[in-house]
This record gives sequence, structure tokens and C-alpha cells, in this order.
Amino acid sequence: MEKQEILVVDDDQHLRMVLHQTLEASGYLVQIAESGEEALSVLKERPVDLIVTDLMMPGIKGTELIKKAREIYPELGAIVITAYGTIERAVEAMQNGAFDFITKPFSISQIESRVQRYFEYQKLRKENQTLKQKIQKYQIDTKIIGESHAIKEVLNYIDIAANSDATVFIRGESGTGKELVAQAIHDRSNRADKPFRKINCAAIPETLFESTLFGHEKGSFSGAYRQQKGIFEESNEGTILLDEISEIPYALQAKLLRVLQEMKVTRVGSTVEIPVDVRVIATTNRDIDELINSSKFREDLFFRLNVFPITIPPLRERKEDIPLLIDHFLESFKAKYHYQKKKLDSGLMQKILNYDWPGNVRQLKHMIERALLFSGKEEVITEKHFRFEEEGNRNGSKSQTIPDEVIPLAEMERRMIFAALRKTDNHRTKAAELLGITVRTLRNKLNEYEQKGLMEG
Ligand SMILES: Nc1ncnc2c1ncn2[C@@H]1O[C@H](COP(=O)(O)OP(=O)(O)OP(=O)(O)O)[C@@H](O)[C@H]1O
Ligand SMILES: [Mg+2]
Repeated sequence: MEKQEILVVDDDQHLRMVLHQTLEASGYLVQIAESGEEALSVLKERPVDLIVTDLMMPGIKGTELIKKAREIYPELGAIVITAYGTIERAVEAMQNGAFDFITKPFSISQIESRVQRYFEYQKLRKENQTLKQKIQKYQIDTKIIGESHAIKEVLNYIDIAANSDATVFIRGESGTGKELVAQAIHDRSNRADKPFRKINCAAIPETLFESTLFGHEKGSFSGAYRQQKGIFEESNEGTILLDEISEIPYALQAKLLRVLQEMKVTRVGSTVEIPVDVRVIATTNRDIDELINSSKFREDLFFRLNVFPITIPPLRERKEDIPLLIDHFLESFKAKYHYQKKKLDSGLMQKILNYDWPGNVRQLKHMIERALLFSGKEEVITEKHFRFEEEGNRNGSKSQTIPDEVIPLAEMERRMIFAALRKTDNHRTKAAELLGITVRTLRNKLNEYEQKGLMEG
């Protein structure tokens, strides 16, 4: 641990020396100043951890010094030294932010124990702060709503997984909350203060996969202008989320497996093995068993990832969570849309409960948000503000998208791609699934349309 630094301020040369030697012998770094003015000029340069100051000095008095110092560093601690008979002054100093006082004459052990007490208190205060921040963070970012048996089970698994370093494999349809669960595991683990890095495997171009994960040396391929750490090195001591793991190119799967087994990475263009300490969480919304059977995903990699499996059931299988989720979203959108109170009409609630939510919680959240926009200042959200889009598409979508005249196949393909995106609330993985193509192919097509100016609004 780094040494704590104490600034001793006293106009009495003998006392300065005694304090200096005592505190240094107790293992602190000690700075001295002969006056309040000198002390302030030291503090203007940089902070210290504690001031020990005499109260009665020519020029700036101890109390004033503390006041001024705390204007620069509001958290700075101070202990004042006061002569017998001036206790009132010490009390005044404490009202101005001093932590403790010592009366002259004092013994060496007295000063040692007061200083030690201050640092112990400081440590507890910091721990308390971190804990409070953590609690707040849970409540805001990773609040997992639901009281269904399934969600309770997931919450239980999150706690167990958080207490270990095991690789976690999260399965669930799109929008069921896989990323949320991954975040919760990290936040509740003892890696919480370390990095949590996510990469979406469906979004990385195939050629950049290896260097994104493991890094590269300068000049290892065209475009590698400088050395770059990969995500494994960057999240050292923390957690990596490999989102949509099924999209990792087959050739790279064996490499990833080796890294997970040995916990060492080799940057592209290098032969040096760098040890890493990371917890890996992987997710998929695809049927991984089918991908293994059709040799698109390596079974050995799957076994290595699937140490701690968590499956999040689709929303339609835990509809009792829907009212709670709606309340939660209505609450969380309050600030954004400036309303005091909103509720759902009971007829609409019934329809929502009857619906099968193919896009799961994400779809519910989006639809609530859209209904909020449409409902404007009205307090009650009704069916007229709510559009079950997919249902509309299901009946008679064909006549809408397949025109009577003959058009080029490429154009037909483009229209189908956008129809799929609309239908899935712009969710690429889901859209690709509907179209029977890979996310990568979908992405390539979209890039192509963008370049040719064929994007649809
Ligand atoms: N139980 C829940 N409580 C509160 N919010 C939730 C819950 N489940 C999901 N959400 C919210 O729904 C949205 C989608 O969740 P998330 O991104 O974690 O889904 P996902 O399973 O990773 O989806 P995809 O497979 O499409 O990436 C997020 O805004 C998330 O906060
Ligand atoms: Mg996700």
C-alpha cells in the first residue's frame, strides 16, 4: 500500500521536529510547514491525506487554515493541537471540519493513536461509500424485474455465478434480458470494480475478429499502424461478455477454446504468450444444439463455455411478470417524458397479457415507450395508443410486400430484408433468422444498401 501523507503545521520548531520524527517512525510520509501560509502554499501544489496543525500561530490560525484547506479539498481531514485551556477553540475547529484534537502536552503514543484512528475512520468511510455506490448501481442499472418462478431462479443463479469465476453461458430468445443478467453477474462479483467489456460477435467483421479479441502488433496486417491490446488483455481482472457467441467464425473457435483453457493470449503478429485473468460470459439467442449438430459451432468450445448455464425463458412463459415490468417501465420513463402518473386501461392490459411477445421484454419496453409518446398528456393509456404491430403484419402481410408486377430479384430481396427488420423492431439477429440468412450476411447487405443509397426510412 502507498504511504499516507501528513502535513504537520506548527510554529514551534521543537514540536515540529517531534511530530515529524514520531509520524515518520509510524510509517507515514511527513511534510512540515512553519505557518498556515506555508501550509496553504504546499496544499495549493498537491493534496495530502491529513493535516496535523497547531491552533495558535502567528498569521493564519489553525481553524482558518482548515477552513481554507477544505475549500480546496472538501474531504481533507485535520487534527488540531491545542494548549490546555483553549478547548473552546478546539471545539470551534471541529465545527469547521477538524476530525479530532489533542491537548498539549501530549505523549508520543497519544499522537500515534489519534492519527491511526483518523485513517481507520477514513478507510471505513471509503468502504461505506463504495458499498453505497454499488447498491445504487444495482438499483438503477441492473434491476431485474420479475416475480415468476423462472425469474427467481435466474436471480438465484446470478448470485451463485457471481460468487465464482466459472464461465457462464446464457441462453434465451432475443430481448429476454441476457445482457442484463451478464451485467448483474459482473456487478455482484468481486470483479465489480474491474472492467466489464462487451463485444457483440455478430457485429465484428470476420477479418478483425482475432485482433479484436487478442490484439495485434504493429504492422502485423495492413491497417495495423500501431500495437493494440485485444479485449482479453483490456479486461484483465474483469469480465468479458461475448455476446452472440454463435457468430464467431468457425476457424477462430479453436483459438478461442485454447485461450480459455490456458488463459493466455497471443497477439496477432507475435509469438509471446500473455497471461490474462478474465471471467467469460457468453450469450446466444440461437439454437446452439442445432448449430453444433450442423457443425457450425464446435462442441468442445460449447462444453468449455457451458460450465454454468443459465436459461432465461421467453416472456410468454412468465406472463405474471408483465404487469411488474410495465410498472417498472412507466416509472423509469417518468423523467424522460415528464409525467407524474400514467396507467393502463384494463382492456389494454388484458390484450397485452394475451399477446405472445416474440421480441420479449425489449419489445414490451419499446411498445410502452411508444404508447407513452402517443398518449401525450392523457393519464390513461388505452388500446388506441398501443399498436400490436406484429399481429397486424401476420394477417395479410404477404399482399403488402409481394407486388403484382415482376421486379428484379435483388429489389425483392431488399424489400424482404426491410420487411423483416420492421417486423422485428429492427433487431438484426431476429430479422436474419426470419430471412434464413446469417447476421453477417444481413449486415453485408445493409452496408451495400447504405453505400448505394438504397436504405429505407
Ligand atoms: N427482467 C427484466 N427487468 C427489467 N428490464 C429487463 C428485464 N429483462 C429485460 N429487460 C430490458 O429489456 C431490454 C432487452 O434486454 P437485453 O438487452 O438484456 O436482452 P438480450 O437477451 O441481451 O437480447 P438480444 O438477444 O436481442 O441481445 C433491455 O432494455 C433490458 O434492460
Ligand atoms: Mg443482448
